[in-house]
Amino acid sequence: MWIDTHAHLVSEQFRDDVDEVVKRAKEAGVGQVVCVADTAASARGCVALARRHRGVWATAGIHPHHAAEATEADFADLRRLLEGEARAAGGPVVAVGEAGLDFHYDFSPRHVQEDVFRKQIRLAHEFGLPIIMHSRKAEERVLDVLAEEGVPEAGGVLHCFWGSAEVAESALAMGLYLGVGGPVTFKNADDLRSVLKSVPTERLLVETDAPYLAPVPFRGKRNEPAYVVHAGRALAELLGVVESELAAVTSRNAARLFGIDAGE
Ligand code: NI
Repeated sequence: MWIDTHAHLVSEQFRDDVDEVVKRAKEAGVGQVVCVADTAASARGCVALARRHRGVWATAGIHPHHAAEATEADFADLRRLLEGEARAAGGPVVAVGEAGLDFHYDFSPRHVQEDVFRKQIRLAHEFGLPIIMHSRKAEERVLDVLAEEGVPEAGGVLHCFWGSAEVAESALAMGLYLGVGGPVTFKNADDLRSVLKSVPTERLLVETDAPYLAPVPFRGKRNEPAYVVHAGRALAELLGVVESELAAVTSRNAARLFGIDAGE
């Protein structure tokens, strides 16, 4: 069974059929899904979804795109969620995030993005949770900020990894996981594939980033957790590993990072 470690199930695009989407994932061999938040409100949505479905987990965090909108009340809300709903408290929240920096879109001023990112790293430290990081055209800065704040004891993942060999090396040296999704199937991703070839499978997670970045043959369509199988298959082929073996290894990795059962 696979674990989709990154899906935005509380997205407008899943509003009408999220329960069907979760069901389809299970039928496709995706036993567990981490519902990743991008705002405090969506974190509440992820928790509600996780309470409805066995095998669905939640995160609490603010995406860099929304950093400028984040208020003190939002941070207070995140803190309440972490206090009441984190895994250690018997709840479904398994990570802080999605946090990080996006210097491609720059939807929020960079200093605000960085401030909001730092606050979330501190929350991860405080609550003993891993951090899920987004990085676009900002890989070095993300790793520098993380190094300054200190990697949370529970670790972290560079989600949707598409960085250079140097960035991969630094991330691995910091004990981070790399999240691999749809892009590994893209025609124009030879650079990504060549970097991934030298990453040990013990440091890899699979993910969809649904509803975005659907893998081939669904590229351009709405992505959903069931499709993580396609990214996983492409990755197994690339690494010369049997598909079921890669599913088992990456599920164990996800289980270790998020403090859940691998479900084998
Ligand atoms: Ni995401």
